[in-house]
Amino acid sequence: MTDISTTPVSSSRPEATAPAPIDGERSRAGYIVFALACVAVAVFAPLPYLTQSMADLAEANVGLGAHYAKQPSAIQLALIVHGTASGLALGLTPLQWAAGVRRRWPAFHRLTGRILAAAIVVGAATGLVVAQVSYAGLSGTIGFSLLSVIWTWCCFRSVATIRAGDRAGHRRWVTRTSALTFAAVTLRVATGASVVVLTAATDLGAQAAFDRAYVVMPFFSWMFNLAVVEWGLRRRR
Ligand code: HEM
Repeated sequence: MTDISTTPVSSSRPEATAPAPIDGERSRAGYIVFALACVAVAVFAPLPYLTQSMADLAEANVGLGAHYAKQPSAIQLALIVHGTASGLALGLTPLQWAAGVRRRWPAFHRLTGRILAAAIVVGAATGLVVAQVSYAGLSGTIGFSLLSVIWTWCCFRSVATIRAGDRAGHRRWVTRTSALTFAAVTLRVATGASVVVLTAATDLGAQAAFDRAYVVMPFFSWMFNLAVVEWGLRRRR
């Protein structure tokens, strides 16, 4: 996770110990890519479910509409609430990492942090419901259920650590929470890339390639992110 608080704005340190400017530029560029990816998925993933009926989505073969059009309306509602709440969590995540906002408006940072935590609780609870009928079958049920529980736990630890005044602990737990929230981006990017590779390298059609790739994603999408940030956190110690 790139925290732009580490980006050197100006430095009075001696030349030998000052971070090379390129590092600051890289972390700023990384933050911009991260923020754009979060906002794009936060807006465009739930949008079809909020603007069209499940039957219309099924008809047009958009997203997982065809699968969810066959589910009870309570599940359909859970999916819509899930996409909206999780989208809010994902959209707010880059804002929480913006050091300028944190420094200048700490009360605003606390307010958006509370909204983010509430969005995660709602997104995870509804994600857990929807996971029981996942398009990916058993892999989706197990992988997404685990993600829901671990996402909630990391969010809870993020809140508990800052309430206890443990800023270093808070930083570690929000890093993990953000990595799990970012699973929504990894899932879509990795599925898309896998479909491109599978259709090019095998004789699978696009739907069969999607089905093949998607079975792995309920685990890969978050375990990969978590492994990357855990490695980063360990290196920092
Ligand atoms: C990180 C914890 C998350 C969990 C446990 C989770 C769980 C799920 C599950 C189980 C489904 C049903 C997919 C299927 O049938 O296989 C789903 C779909 C969906 N989720 Fe999440 N999700 C999470 C995060 C997010 C985030 C951050 C977003 C933000 C946009 C999001 C947006 C959606 C949308 C829009 C769908 C509908 C399917 C589609 O067309 O992509 N989810 N999620």
